[in-house]
Amino acid sequence: MGYFRNTIEQMAGYTPGFQPKSGDVVKLNTNENPYPPSPRAIEAVRNLPPERLRRYPEPMADTFRAAAASVLGVTADNIICTNGGDDLLMVCFRACCDAGRPVAFAQPTYSLYPVLAQLQGCSVIEVDRDANGALDKLAEVNAALTIVCNPNAPTADLISVDALGALAKKLAGVLLIDEAYVDFADDNAIRLINDNDNVIILRSMSKGYSLAGMRFGFGIAAVSLINGLMKAKDSYPVDAAAIAAATAAIQDQTYLRSNVEKVKSERTRLSGQLRSMGFDVPDSQTNFVLARCLGINAKDVFDALVERNIFVRYFALPGLEDKLRITIGTPEQNDRLLAVLKEIYPSG
Ligand SMILES: Cc1ncc(COP(=O)(O)O)c(C=O)c1O
Repeated sequence: MGYFRNTIEQMAGYTPGFQPKSGDVVKLNTNENPYPPSPRAIEAVRNLPPERLRRYPEPMADTFRAAAASVLGVTADNIICTNGGDDLLMVCFRACCDAGRPVAFAQPTYSLYPVLAQLQGCSVIEVDRDANGALDKLAEVNAALTIVCNPNAPTADLISVDALGALAKKLAGVLLIDEAYVDFADDNAIRLINDNDNVIILRSMSKGYSLAGMRFGFGIAAVSLINGLMKAKDSYPVDAAAIAAATAAIQDQTYLRSNVEKVKSERTRLSGQLRSMGFDVPDSQTNFVLARCLGINAKDVFDALVERNIFVRYFALPGLEDKLRITIGTPEQNDRLLAVLKEIYPSG
């Protein structure tokens, strides 16, 4: 007998985006925010009393729940806090899925979902996201857990929230709407929790709030759903420093908005420049673009960028082999990327 369950023996595990050592690199491969977190978040961590490190943190991060509730117009009971959005995904799989209770989602999407399904030992039903009516197919499948990433990674587009509301009504199971990138989008699905007790919305502090290193995410749902998910979380999923930083960050909406506007304005500029060079770049509702390479191999472009210490993301997956996912950087970072692309891209 081996040490591991069969499913662990057989799976490959998740491959995170490459984390280069700091130095003179342009890192546009894991959709981090190029700007620092709110000064109020940094101050909150600096001023953390040692007593808060000695004691266990709040098991449900109630300080953050209260702050987020007032910013988002829900109640604290509608919120569950987790160790990053990834941990909320794990909690949902743990709470909703097993061998007889499958998960469903449309591909291409966030590559962690199938890995978590393997860990949980549940089957996966995938529908084609390109095909018209992907949501209708998900409704037909009617899985125990349906995940829609909105805006979607890596395609960067947004499905209408009304269409998601209609899907929620057709499903007998839970609808998880992954809004990790919603701070950069035109709409969000919070209003759906009012009359859909099967909808859980995932939020991350990693993207809009520049706190990827802190690991703080949360879910927003009807109280009955939150109470069920609470049973499947770790005892202390978020630490004292993360609670302090995330609370201060979500209270600083002015900083969030100005930061997001800077990213959006660079998103418009970068998309335009890439298009004028000959890339096919659909409009993005996120802090990254998915650029299709025309007349040149995307992996070759990726490799040429790596040689120059510029990191973007390439996925050797169906439908993505000819594309590069590029995180929006600072104007200087984007200029360095564009300068190299102009050298290597055929029409550049
Ligand atoms: C679609 C999507 N969902 C969730 C997450 C999780 O983010 P985090 O665990 O950093 O909050 C990510 C991170 O890249 C993501 O791309």
